[in-house]
Amino acid sequence: MNTLPQHIAIIMDGNRRWAKEQGKPTMLGHSTGAKNLKRIVQKALDLGISHLTFWALSTENLKRDKKEVDHIFSLFEKITDYLDDFLQNDAKFQIIGDISEQIPEKVQKKLADIAEKTQNATKMTLTFAINYGGRDEILRATKKMLAEGLDPSTLTEEAFAQYLDTKDMPNPDMIIRTGGNKRLSGYLPWQSTYAELYFTDIKWPAYSPEDLQDAVDWYADQQRNFGK
Ligand code: FPP
Repeated sequence: MNTLPQHIAIIMDGNRRWAKEQGKPTMLGHSTGAKNLKRIVQKALDLGISHLTFWALSTENLKRDKKEVDHIFSLFEKITDYLDDFLQNDAKFQIIGDISEQIPEKVQKKLADIAEKTQNATKMTLTFAINYGGRDEILRATKKMLAEGLDPSTLTEEAFAQYLDTKDMPNPDMIIRTGGNKRLSGYLPWQSTYAELYFTDIKWPAYSPEDLQDAVDWYADQQRNFGK
């Protein structure tokens, strides 16, 4: 097996609890979490990881207090302040999730603009899952398939995967969840079937490059046989 994961998908959990522990407002947890992406993306680039996927906003998160959701949108709008170093040359940026729904148009436009500008970058594909839920993704895929009138006898796993948001991406080799909970909460359910699952108590704003190194070292120790 390849000892370096090609694709790492991260659930950045614990922003609010981190802020609370510090006696700081919730919003600061998210802003500090946004800032933290930079050093983690840099570490992943240094390690040679080609796909990094962050769950930046779930379909469930959108049901939170409007002020909090608007704050997260404002962070997306300022994404170049956080990730400009990579978005110039190294990382191809893309979105998965239902971006057309519930996301302010100016935010959609900004993200689409960056995706277009970075499409030729080759070192890494940096994906943000926004308004993403795994069941929602599978439903959207199924609706698309039915609308096209696909003949059920031609349906294979490979054909189905082509309707998912991740159609051009390899499956994640490892999923990392920060913040202490040991569940996937609907993150990439189809794609994560054979992923190694790594849970850490460290809350996202405090998650460091050394912590990512620990996860990658742990991954190298796992025996992956894909059920064979
Ligand atoms: C989960 O922590 C995190 C989120 C709901 C939002 C994550 C978004 C960011 C870090 C912004 C990224 C944006 C840019 C532009 C780089 P939580 O709020 O569920 O924390 P809790 O588990 O402590 O309640």
